[in-house]
Amino acid sequence: MDMLVEHPRIPLGEKEFEAGSFADHTTPLIRNCWYVAALGGEVSREIISRRLLGVDIALYRTEAGAPVAVRNRCPHRSFPLAKGRLVGDTLICGYHGMQFDPSGRCVSMPSMPIVPTNAQVRSFDLVERAPLIWIWMGDPNKADESLVPDTPWLNDENWKSVSGQFFLNSDYVSMHENLLDQTHFPFLHPGVIGTPEYARSKLKIRREGEVVIIDRLLKNSPPPGVYAMPTGLTGKPVDRHSEARFQSPALHVAFAKIVNPTPPPGALTEYCFNITHIFTPENNESIHYWWFNSRNFDLQNKASDEFLHAASDKAYLEDVDALEWIMDVVRKDTEKQFDLNFAPDKPGLLMRRALYDRAAAEAGYEL
Ligand code: FES
Ligand SMILES: [Fe+2]
Repeated sequence: MDMLVEHPRIPLGEKEFEAGSFADHTTPLIRNCWYVAALGGEVSREIISRRLLGVDIALYRTEAGAPVAVRNRCPHRSFPLAKGRLVGDTLICGYHGMQFDPSGRCVSMPSMPIVPTNAQVRSFDLVERAPLIWIWMGDPNKADESLVPDTPWLNDENWKSVSGQFFLNSDYVSMHENLLDQTHFPFLHPGVIGTPEYARSKLKIRREGEVVIIDRLLKNSPPPGVYAMPTGLTGKPVDRHSEARFQSPALHVAFAKIVNPTPPPGALTEYCFNITHIFTPENNESIHYWWFNSRNFDLQNKASDEFLHAASDKAYLEDVDALEWIMDVVRKDTEKQFDLNFAPDKPGLLMRRALYDRAAAEAGYEL
């Protein structure tokens, strides 16, 4: 049965939260969460900067190789510290030479005879789990390493990943919804991900705490293009298991398993693809987005690498374009609209509710 729901939007900056509402691009960003700051390979002895959750961050590695993140803003006159330099593990501001150790503590201010030991630039907890560097930008007392999401297939010799990244002008809430919304596949990505049978197949939706999960099983149907070529099962009836998980504000993971019920002798029965989507908001209307398409078979096949990279990049760019077009309308069209919701939008609404409740809790509201 179709469900028609209007949901109110609370403008960013207003202090009120209402029970039963859904997050959108105006909802304050969740801060008590591990987000990806960078890929490990992006962080070196050259200082780089990136704006995450509205805060400018400088990233570098110590001589021993440990990643460091500090606010990219000198506490003296706001000079971007990434424009300074490293001497050993000491970061030196390029304006008046104030020096900071990797914990952010000031160890020298050349214009002062004594060290202003109470001067400090904020440093952020990082956890490196190759190929990702996770950052905690919320309450430092709540930074719990055990909450860093596990993505072991990204660093496992039994898996092969192709990957890419985008920076886009959209909100991370809409990107998460896009990934939980499988009804757009045949229209936005015809032939590549979506097949008409898949769009009509039944899905099971559940919420486990703050995780929203969609399960789907489509039996006896040819795989879509993106899975057909690497498995060599073009046109063959297969069983396709898929699970999509809104794991956290920072992470969506999709697990796909293609099962060939009648494999020829010596051929595989099961082919697994794990798709990892990582979002770190730059602010409420722009996102750093990394994706990985990982498979557990035919690891050395360069043609499959190239095919999966091109197919994934094309499909995700279609999503990026769509979400940027939507954000452009939402921002610039000034006549109010409450978007309609239908029954298949339920997974996205569960995610929006979870994000909204989390934002409210961070703002001190009990809903
Ligand atoms: S602005 Fe950095 S030392 Fe003055
Ligand atoms: Fe999509």
